[in-house]
Amino acid sequence: MSFVVAIDGPAGTGKGTITKLIAQELKLVNIDTGAMYRCVTLQALKQGINTIEKKEELINIAKNIYIQLENYNGEQKILLNGEDVTSEIRSIEVSGFVSPVSSIPEIRELMVDLQRKMAEGKDVIMEGRDITTVVFPNANVKIYLDADVEERAKRRYKENIAKGMKETYEEILDKIKTRDYNDMHKEVGALKIAEDAIVIDTTKMSIEEVKNKVKDIILERWK
Ligand code: DC
Repeated sequence: MSFVVAIDGPAGTGKGTITKLIAQELKLVNIDTGAMYRCVTLQALKQGINTIEKKEELINIAKNIYIQLENYNGEQKILLNGEDVTSEIRSIEVSGFVSPVSSIPEIRELMVDLQRKMAEGKDVIMEGRDITTVVFPNANVKIYLDADVEERAKRRYKENIAKGMKETYEEILDKIKTRDYNDMHKEVGALKIAEDAIVIDTTKMSIEEVKNKVKDIILERWK
C-alpha cells in the first residue's frame, strides 16, 4: 500500500522547498508536477512554439516527450528526453508560457496519468495545483499552502536575485497575479481548495515553521 501526501497552493507559497525538505527527512519520493508542465513548455519553446493557438502541436509534444524526476543525494534533477533541464525550466520564458500550456485539457490528462504512474506502489509527496482535487482526491494527507500575494512576490524576488535574474519586484508581483488568475480559472484542473484539505497560511511563517507543521500532520496520519 502506498502512502500519498498531496500538496497544492499558488506560486510562491514555499511548496517546492517544503516538499523537498520533507521528502528527504521522511524518505518520501518527491514529485514536482509543476516541473512536468514546465518540461512540456520548454520543449515547445525549443521547437519555436510560443502560442497556444498551436494547440495540436503542443499536445503532440506532451505525448512524445520523456520526463524523468530523479534524486541524486537529496538534489532533485529534472530530465527532459534524457537531458538535465533542472535550471532551464525555471527561466523567465518558460515561466511566462507555462500557465497557458497547462490549461490545455488534453495536456493535463497526459500529465495526470503520468503523475499517477510515477506514484504507483510508492510513498510519495506530490505538489502542484490539482493534486488534492484531481490527481489524488483520496490522498492520505491533503494540504493547501497559501500566503498573501505581496509576500509571495517578495519571496520570488529574493530567490530570483540570488539566481542573478533581473526582474523587478513589481514585474514579479504582476506576473504572479496573472498566473494566479490563470491557475484558478482553468477549465480543467483549476487551483482550488479541496473541502477536506488542511489550509496553512504561510504569510507570517518561516520555511522551518511550515515544514515542521506539515511534517507533524503527516506523521500524525502515517501510523
Ligand atoms: O509550481 P510551478 O510554478 O512550477 O508550476 C508551473 C505552472 O504549472 C503553473 O502555472 C501552474 C501549472 N501547474 C498546474 O497547472 N498543475 C499542476 N499540478 C502543477 C502546476
